[in-house]
Amino acid sequence: MDSYKILLSEAEMPQEWYNIIPDLPSPMPPYLHPATGKPITPDDLAAIFPRALIEQEMSPERWIPIPDEVRRIYQLWRPSPLHRARNLEAALKTPARIYYKNESVSPAGSHKPNTAVAQAYYNKAAGIKRLATETGAGQWGCALALACNFFSMECTVYMVKVSYHQKPYRRSLMHIWGASVYPSPTDRTQAGRNILAQTPETSGSLGMAISEAVEDAATHDDTNYSLGSVLNHVMLHQTIVGLETKKQLALAGESPEVLIGCVGGGSNFAGFCFPFVPDKLKGQDIRFVAVEPTACPTLTRGAYTYDFGDTAGLTPLIMMYTLGHSFVPSGIHAGGLRYHGDAPLLCQLVHEKVIEARAYPQNPVFEAARLFAETEGLIPAPETAHAIKAAVDEARLCKETNQAKCIVFNFSGHGHFDLAAYDAFLEGQLKDIELDPEEMIKKALADLPKIRQ
Ligand SMILES: Cc1ncc(COP(=O)(O)O)c(C=O)c1O
Repeated sequence: MDSYKILLSEAEMPQEWYNIIPDLPSPMPPYLHPATGKPITPDDLAAIFPRALIEQEMSPERWIPIPDEVRRIYQLWRPSPLHRARNLEAALKTPARIYYKNESVSPAGSHKPNTAVAQAYYNKAAGIKRLATETGAGQWGCALALACNFFSMECTVYMVKVSYHQKPYRRSLMHIWGASVYPSPTDRTQAGRNILAQTPETSGSLGMAISEAVEDAATHDDTNYSLGSVLNHVMLHQTIVGLETKKQLALAGESPEVLIGCVGGGSNFAGFCFPFVPDKLKGQDIRFVAVEPTACPTLTRGAYTYDFGDTAGLTPLIMMYTLGHSFVPSGIHAGGLRYHGDAPLLCQLVHEKVIEARAYPQNPVFEAARLFAETEGLIPAPETAHAIKAAVDEARLCKETNQAKCIVFNFSGHGHFDLAAYDAFLEGQLKDIELDPEEMIKKALADLPKIRQ
């Protein structure tokens, strides 16, 4: 019998996360203090993060044990299944073998709880009572609300205004799990008030919401900040995805040739791909394809330089591909991909040509999502649909060149709360970004911080 799913038992769930830092081809450029231009110290981060996460951020250890309490919560949905997309393969008439790792089975519907649970655990252990965060599409806010709920902590979510209105049911989910949710920019923080004074009609952005959440955490002793992507410790926690995938592919007797993920801040992509990077560095023939929207083309059109992680300039300076911290992407439906920068570890590997990147407009992405829903049944999140589009393109290329490649992508989340976007697509009302953002990018890049030497 042909199998459609490759499953691991709960006992086979990985017991450690994989830290890529010791395996990087060159050392990671340090985060810099904006005032001094010098590398930041753990003490600089202590106002908003617990020590354990600061240590993970900079750890030279390759393997980091997953605490038992975190593993017990992971067991609610992990290990997640690896599916063979046989129906999609048949529809495409491709000789390629397509697999997808299904992270939509978590209670919040995406990969995000893998780090939310870990972050809530370490903050609780450090005596913190409340976590403040931002959310774009609402997936991360839901994940952190869920995690705080498990650890009896309060959770404050600054939700990008356009998503707050586009996705009211994501809000409901956060409320069910006990979080407070505000449309960002708000008048609750100085950063929010400044932004509203300058651009009262703004649709918000992840960069703005991060500024608000960081300020909230920095000005309250019992509150820390929690980030759903970008930082090294988030990439670390997400490697459980790739580690499981590795075991599952081995069970299927497969060796992956193309690994694909969508990129907002980089966490699902990194978590899925990083455990395979040492194989490539040792000479195995694997391509890593990072997919982003043309409306927010960080990796494909950004500058590789130091920039702030947020709009107001409250975070350390991070070496990354960036469109400029003042860049406000259009209100596309893949809200989780609207971020001006990307994870520094991912950016470094793109810069060093270990990972390739490409960008798609939203209509072809939704077209691929429809084909996937028709064949495999699942309705992907618009973010995830970017990865599907790339997988479909790769499989079509295999058909043209008659190559039976093994293509694996990360199904980062379901789209059950994105149905308004699907309606707009089905009614032909979804706009591809007609305005070339080149001018916007140039303007935002002109605002890059000047680094003191
Ligand atoms: C389902 C889904 N996939 C992907 C992303 C992008 O984030 P990241 O690049 O950190 O995985 C998001 C962000 O909200 C998301 O909700």
